Amino acid sequence: MSFKVGQTLTLVGTAKADATNFAVNIGPDEKDVTMHINPRFDAHGDQNVVVCNSYQGGVWCAEQRETSFPFTVGGEFKISITFNPAEFLVVLPDGSSFTFPNRMGLEKYSVVNVDGDARITTIEIK
Ligand code: GAL
Repeated sequence: MSFKVGQTLTLVGTAKADATNFAVNIGPDEKDVTMHINPRFDAHGDQNVVVCNSYQGGVWCAEQRETSFPFTVGGEFKISITFNPAEFLVVLPDGSSFTFPNRMGLEKYSVVNVDGDARITTIEIK
């Protein structure tokens, strides 16, 4: 899979009925993640917060926490993501959005995956 500057990644899915959290990970390879988007219903000591971060060289970097949490356990969600060499723009299911720095600064990422308690029904890059 390749996700490039100028493209929009759209993910539609459903959080599992007993979901604690799930994560969307975008990176240059299988081990590094430039954009980790982690809606936490109840995980890692957090309730109802989206935590973003990047993972480089085997370590998590500085977290960013979002103010909006438009996700529900068992509910459907749609997330849209675009980026440029400086930042990612993420649009959440309620239409609210936030930016997160493109810490690796690349214009193309080849790995997109979703981990955790969600079932993805559509993943589209165009
Ligand atoms: C950790 C968690 C990781 C990731 C990271 C984000 O506590 O184990 O999965 O979410 O926080 O900073």
